[in-house]
Amino acid sequence: MSNWTTQAPPPDPEVTNPDPIITVDDYAPIARRLLTPEAWDYYDGGGGDEITLRANCEAYRRIKLRPRVLVDIANCDLSTVVSGSRVSMPILIAPMAYHGLAHSEAEMASVEGARLAQTLMVSSINSSRTLEQIAAYRHGPLWQQLYFGPDRAATLNLVGRIERAGYQAIVLTVDRPVSGMRTRDLRNRFKLPTGVRAANFGDADRSLDAICAATWEDLSWLINSTTLPVMVKGILTGEDASRAAEMGAAAIMVSNHGGRLLDSVNASIDSLKEVVLAVSGRCDVYCDGGIRRGTDVLKALAIGAKAVLVGRPILWGLAAEGAQGVARVLEILRQELRQAMMLAGRPTINDIDPSLIGGF
Ligand SMILES: Cc1cc2nc3c(=O)[nH]c(=O)nc-3n(C[C@H](O)[C@H](O)[C@H](O)COP(=O)(O)O)c2cc1C
Repeated sequence: MSNWTTQAPPPDPEVTNPDPIITVDDYAPIARRLLTPEAWDYYDGGGGDEITLRANCEAYRRIKLRPRVLVDIANCDLSTVVSGSRVSMPILIAPMAYHGLAHSEAEMASVEGARLAQTLMVSSINSSRTLEQIAAYRHGPLWQQLYFGPDRAATLNLVGRIERAGYQAIVLTVDRPVSGMRTRDLRNRFKLPTGVRAANFGDADRSLDAICAATWEDLSWLINSTTLPVMVKGILTGEDASRAAEMGAAAIMVSNHGGRLLDSVNASIDSLKEVVLAVSGRCDVYCDGGIRRGTDVLKALAIGAKAVLVGRPILWGLAAEGAQGVARVLEILRQELRQAMMLAGRPTINDIDPSLIGGF
């Protein structure tokens, strides 16, 4: 046998790199292995045929960038202020129900992950810990997501609790006047497992079905009923964005609920431009849905978002490694965004503008 055939084989990248987590998507298969198939489907699934769910990610891939060169990028700074709260980067944690399905420390681990990454979490009203427990545990700004209750008295009761617990803002989700039809959950006859419940409410499954179809009058009433800024989440048109801004919404979150509700609506990034134009600087605009790369964040900011919110990848990190996993997902996105900003010749958040968008 000649000498060269007995030489050591070239290093196997799997072995030389003991850490396979490079992108946030790398956490998905790990989470999938750790979760029950039903819990995975609940987190991962979307409405109907999941057209919008897929579109949310695909739409980012279509958008191309116009980088500038020979820019002084020595001082790259990702920090920003979102509706009065300073964060280390324009990447926030989206409100998602039942973190307890992913990890025994549930929302406590997620809020710790947000602290480690120096950013903020929007806590779902359908959390598996009470909003008071989560607020007591946090170390930075925290916003509370809310659905309208079955009546104004019930809503007001929650608003009082949110104010007393010390949250900085209410994020009112308006895109769910009825439950979505998540095909996977229907096939699985999904029910929350014992031990996971909507802790803010009395009985176990109440929040899965109790939906209240509110109207613009209710939004106006809420804005006038609380001392906290009210942000409106789940807007996809310029018309609705303009009306919400007119009523005094503190921010608009362009979102299709991660493709979990009405199927076939626009990818949220495809609705961002018309919302930004309609709002015309009257309030901040945020965007969520399909953010998986730093370049996705850069694109959303270039189109006019003040910050983005990340959903499912946070749950993957939480399932895999608790607070550390949440923080790591955020750090991966931070590093990717930083690198993309430098490569694009946009070293600070203020340098990111629509001229960065090349085409769709
Ligand atoms: C498992 C899960 C639960 C969610 N629960 C809520 C919720 O309670 N309230 C809400 O406003 N949005 C909820 N959302 C939507 C997210 O806030 C966000 O809009 C969406 O996940 C962003 O898309 P992404 O997962 O592709 O990042 C949920 C999303 C998921 C995946």
